[in-house]
Amino acid sequence: MRLRWRLCWRYRRVGIRHVQASSLSERVGFTASQRHIPKKPIWLCDAVFRVLSDRLLGVYSLSSSASCYNGAGVTLFDDLVFHVKQDSHARRTRVLVVTNQKGGVGKTTTAVNLAGEFVRRGQHVLLIDSDPQGNATTSLGVAKRSLSITIYDLLMQTADVRSAIMTTGRERFDLIPADEDLAGAAIALAGIDRREWRLRDALDQIATGYDHVIIDCPPSLGLLTLNALCAADSVLIPLQCEYLALEGLAQLKGTLDRVRDGLNPSLRIIGVVMTMYDVRTKLAQQVVEDVQRHFPHLICRTLISRSVRISEAPSYGKLIAEYDPLGRSAQSYAALADEVLQREEL
Ligand SMILES: Nc1ncnc2c1ncn2[C@@H]1O[C@H](COP(=O)(O)OP(=O)(O)OP(=O)(O)O)[C@@H](O)[C@H]1O
Ligand SMILES: [Mg+2]
Repeated sequence: MRLRWRLCWRYRRVGIRHVQASSLSERVGFTASQRHIPKKPIWLCDAVFRVLSDRLLGVYSLSSSASCYNGAGVTLFDDLVFHVKQDSHARRTRVLVVTNQKGGVGKTTTAVNLAGEFVRRGQHVLLIDSDPQGNATTSLGVAKRSLSITIYDLLMQTADVRSAIMTTGRERFDLIPADEDLAGAAIALAGIDRREWRLRDALDQIATGYDHVIIDCPPSLGLLTLNALCAADSVLIPLQCEYLALEGLAQLKGTLDRVRDGLNPSLRIIGVVMTMYDVRTKLAQQVVEDVQRHFPHLICRTLISRSVRISEAPSYGKLIAEYDPLGRSAQSYAALADEVLQREEL
């Protein structure tokens, strides 16, 4: 059941309009002559599912055996061909999660400033604050006491996703805010079926409305982070340039592997970004070298330096590009945004 749901969701999210499967014919409930999304339920194995969700256009053949479940049983096919066309009106929403269970490493700062940079590149962006501290919400100048609907209502399904979205006063930059109520969500959802899919279910309803959805996570690997990871395409991990920076990374990678294996096979780590880099200290350089040695392909070439301006900006409810547009920190976040966009294309 879960695979079928995932497939339908993916169809809409990547804007796929036409799917034709030849050599499956009636066995999966739709024929080569019918060029539409099959109305009858089909369940596809992860291999097929990944091909459909990763590529947008063209004809894809899977010559190796692929399994499909047609409601009566699992059938193996040797020859499976999909003709996939993108709906020209639909756009692909990319969901990027900024996470690290370590506290104070620069998750929120990275999430809000990356969101701002994507907006500056003309994108329509939704930032989701998924931390009961509500730091992303306040960083954008939104007063938490003024909130009537937050991500908590979304997860509890007492509000619809559209009513939870608010503007930030910036063009093309929307927010789903959070406040301390969110701390109760994990307890309230305990024991409820599909509790880790609540955010993804909600985002499905606004599938093609945004270019990017960015989710700021709390400093834990609990249910809130799990909901974010189930909804995500990619994960960005901020690491603070200090002693013990790498500690906990193995645990985080283990969690990401488990989510990928069991829940969200298309999840990938897009990069590790070093934050609060202080060029004057030997320790910062050593930490960067350490991470380069351990994760040569993951470490972003953009380093975010330690800067008083970055820490001041949220107290004015401003992004660094608004607070100090010509400063080095704003340039660093601009460079990081370019790098993340490039990495997403790989
Ligand atoms: N590059 C930087 N230079 C100086 N200060 C920074 C920098 N990045 C973040 N900070 C400051 O460090 C503190 C922690 O940053 P931030 O809130 O982004 O971390 P976090 O990982 O989201 O924290 P938490 O785990 O509590 O959610 C904040 O006060 C922030 O302003
Ligand atoms: Mg934070």
